[in-house]
Amino acid sequence: MKTSSLKLKTFAEYKKAYKKSVENPEKFWGKIAEEFTWQKKWDNTLSYNFSIPEVKWFEGGKLNITENCLDRHLENIGNKTAIIWEPNDPDEESRHITYRQLYVKVCRFANVLKSNGIKKGDRVCIYMPMIPELAIAMLACARIGAVHSIVFAGFSSSAIASRINDAECKMLITANEVYRGTKRINLKSICDEALKKTPTIENVIVYRRTVEPTEMTAGRDKFWFDELQKVNQDCDAEVMDAEDLLFILYTSGSTGKPKGMVHTTGGYMVGATYSFSNVFQMNDENDVYWCTADIGWITGHSYIIYGPLCAGVTTVMFEGIPNYPDYGRFWEICDKLKVTHFYTAPTAIRSLAKQPIAFVNKHKLSTLKVLGSVGEPINEEAWHWYNDNIGKGNCPIVDTWWQTETGAIMISPLAGITPTRPTFATLPLPGVQPALMNEHGEEITNIHEKAEGRLAIKFPWPSMARTVWGDHQRYKEVYFSAYPNMYFTGDGAYRDATGNYRITGRVDDVVIVSGHNLGTAPIENAMNEHEGVAESAVVGFPHDVKGNALYAFVILYPGVEATDELKKEIRDLVSSTIGAIAKPDVIQFVKGVPKTRSGKIMRRILRKIASKDTSNLGDTSTLLNPEIIQEIIDGAL
Ligand code: WT7
Repeated sequence: MKTSSLKLKTFAEYKKAYKKSVENPEKFWGKIAEEFTWQKKWDNTLSYNFSIPEVKWFEGGKLNITENCLDRHLENIGNKTAIIWEPNDPDEESRHITYRQLYVKVCRFANVLKSNGIKKGDRVCIYMPMIPELAIAMLACARIGAVHSIVFAGFSSSAIASRINDAECKMLITANEVYRGTKRINLKSICDEALKKTPTIENVIVYRRTVEPTEMTAGRDKFWFDELQKVNQDCDAEVMDAEDLLFILYTSGSTGKPKGMVHTTGGYMVGATYSFSNVFQMNDENDVYWCTADIGWITGHSYIIYGPLCAGVTTVMFEGIPNYPDYGRFWEICDKLKVTHFYTAPTAIRSLAKQPIAFVNKHKLSTLKVLGSVGEPINEEAWHWYNDNIGKGNCPIVDTWWQTETGAIMISPLAGITPTRPTFATLPLPGVQPALMNEHGEEITNIHEKAEGRLAIKFPWPSMARTVWGDHQRYKEVYFSAYPNMYFTGDGAYRDATGNYRITGRVDDVVIVSGHNLGTAPIENAMNEHEGVAESAVVGFPHDVKGNALYAFVILYPGVEATDELKKEIRDLVSSTIGAIAKPDVIQFVKGVPKTRSGKIMRRILRKIASKDTSNLGDTSTLLNPEIIQEIIDGAL
């Protein structure tokens, strides 16, 4: 984007833009889209029907997102650093990759993909640590029109396999090992386990992050470096229609298997870049932006790679963790790399806030200008700690609300422009039309009165997911069935009398643990696979660092002994089926769980028991087995 032209500068400008975006959304987004590089302009800015549902933006437009992330910058900022990579080990050297170098690396690796048979539309699974090659692999896919499906490198082999199989990926790109704090994890062996169950994978490209010996399967596995030697660095960008797929990214649902959210090229690019530029307000060419998320999540897709690179800024990728070698690592990196814009999650803020303040005060933090938060509601205490100790009271905090499904930030202050208020994500971005819904399913339209309800969006925005891969019906049921002609977010929200939103959290069976979106059903399914487990129910309960933690109520088969060893087995099973992030924090063995007459588990009551808030359990008259409640409370941990 011609960086300055559509960046809002004042609150009055924001209000004007917002008004325009509602009055004539097509004209509004069309003007923004014109700032990008298109091989051919679109014929039709928007067509949509939320009851099918179908949404198309910039139809007929031809482009390639990598021309916008890379080629377009070569002339003016080719020598500017695109990516600064900070390794896990502070003694290993950082890497600075300019836009021109990144362009060459992406084109070259794109040729590796091609020479291994990958074509436009093929799906490629990427399971990699936070190293520049992850960015190169994803951009190389986009360069040739292959659809990347990035799986967070903390997921288990069965989670990889099910995602690969769902998307029928032809290739897997991984690294031999990954460093995380003091640990070295063998990613390749996790992949090998997954690859036993993935018939569609033809080739595996392995980047060597360490010099350790790596087991390779002949004919299938190839080293990244060896493949690079066989190709040149010229690779024209594939011509993509605006609605051609850019990527699939899996997110947990409240029921069933993870949903592969499908994002398309043109709208996603416009939405990610417009929001990035306006929310973060990187106004100086020397500004350095650092988002601490992993690229395996949507935050990393939109706000480490696509948004920042399209905007031509310097973006930091960090391989490590916040507490290695000590709890000051984030702040050390901010000083070392002169970070000006810092974006992290409340769970990280809370865990760092628990440590002695000396870990912060050892560092100057004098380059910081803007702080961001994402992933879950930020509580008041964490907000103030962040504001006072990291921002030193003079960095605006942007509390950005959005979702994997929305592709881009939806409700957030614009840094330095929108008045902030602790715990409030504040106002919708231009082009975003939220609706607060009451318990009767009606929109609460009076924006001058405080209200609480469920959050929906009543008009399409360019970066919204277009479908669930392979299951359009599910897309319709989950997002477009709660309210006619609206997208339902799954979140509850409060709105104050000036129109500011505070997101209160999920209203479905998704629990956000340390910023990770986890469905309770898949965790229950994993536990039920244990031969001793008859049934289980998982709920979230408040946790002072993780935001929420997981509490599992487990019913054993008769004769099975309730031991700590068994708890460990169950937790390990969840870890190997889904990943360590999904392990329940508490397991309570129970004789039964409260159920309605129709056999539905009354999670509302279990949530209260898990939260140690049993003074008022509400109406229990419809229960089949009310007597079980006291028994569970008595045994609660
Ligand atoms: C869910 C989406 C968006 C990228 C990371 C998570 C919660 C996200 C906030 C915020 C309150 C938030 C919502 C949302 N959430 N940001 N600033 N304030 N809640 O993406 O894994 O798709 O999760 O995260 O509950 O629905 P995701």
